[in-house]
Amino acid sequence: MRLILLDPPGAGKGTQAKRIAEKFNIVHISTGDILREELKKNSELGKKAGEYMQKGELVPDDLIIEMIKNIISNKENISNNEKSISEKSKKNAQNGFLMDGFPRTLNQAKKFDEMLESLGLSIDKVINIEVKKEELVKRLSSRRVCHSCNNICSLNDKKNIDEIKLGKCPVCGGELFQRKDDSEDVIMQRLEVYENQTKPLINYYKQKNLLVDIDGMGSEDEITERILSSL
Ligand code: AP5
Repeated sequence: MRLILLDPPGAGKGTQAKRIAEKFNIVHISTGDILREELKKNSELGKKAGEYMQKGELVPDDLIIEMIKNIISNKENISNNEKSISEKSKKNAQNGFLMDGFPRTLNQAKKFDEMLESLGLSIDKVINIEVKKEELVKRLSSRRVCHSCNNICSLNDKKNIDEIKLGKCPVCGGELFQRKDDSEDVIMQRLEVYENQTKPLINYYKQKNLLVDIDGMGSEDEITERILSSL
């Protein structure tokens, strides 16, 4: 199974990707997570990407395409993206993957098609989770992420609110942090970048008959059910 999650920032790509990748035992490839790891390592790629990420802009296509090429052709050990890949699904990306946050421009999408074609591979489905803008802003500004296990949680999660308010991960007890690009001005910039550069991909994949629209309003479990029943 080869899938792409194509939705605006905050629609729940990371949250749903983990569940779907585990369900189908495929590799979860999150370009955002990989870039944040590179940033932490202070690598050349991390330094270059960080400049764009902190402003809410897209990292230049050539850097991203090279990174994906290495992962898909297995030149690069996918453990770079370790935190988003469960142990059991850590395996050859060519056997199946779920792309989270890639492609994000028409150029990336076309280059990705060429890459897959040269390997004799193709995409099965592109999942487009639809969420209203006000809800996206609310979700992003309330998001907290665990330093230790990378769990994504929310100040809107009533069940675990006491722990989350104390900055404690409800899954592992690790320390929670707020992503730097989840400040209000950067959120607005990311949403604008999505409208101008990523939204056109909806039509690109619709024309290829690969697009599945999912209503993204509802609980995390409800959205997972909708995605699974569309596959
Ligand atoms: P990236 O990390 O991909 O960020 P993003 O696309 O902005 O998406 P997010 O991770 O913010 O949101 P999400 O959809 O995963 O939502 P989540 O599940 O966390 O990219 C970051 C940056 O890296 C980019 O800005 C760019 O600079 C660079 N970059 C990455 N890929 C690139 C590429 N291909 N090309 C160029 N540059 C690239 O959920 C959000 C919150 O909502 C959480 O708190 C969660 O608990 C909550 N939530 C989830 N589902 C629900 C629900 N159903 N109801 C209520 N709350 C929910």
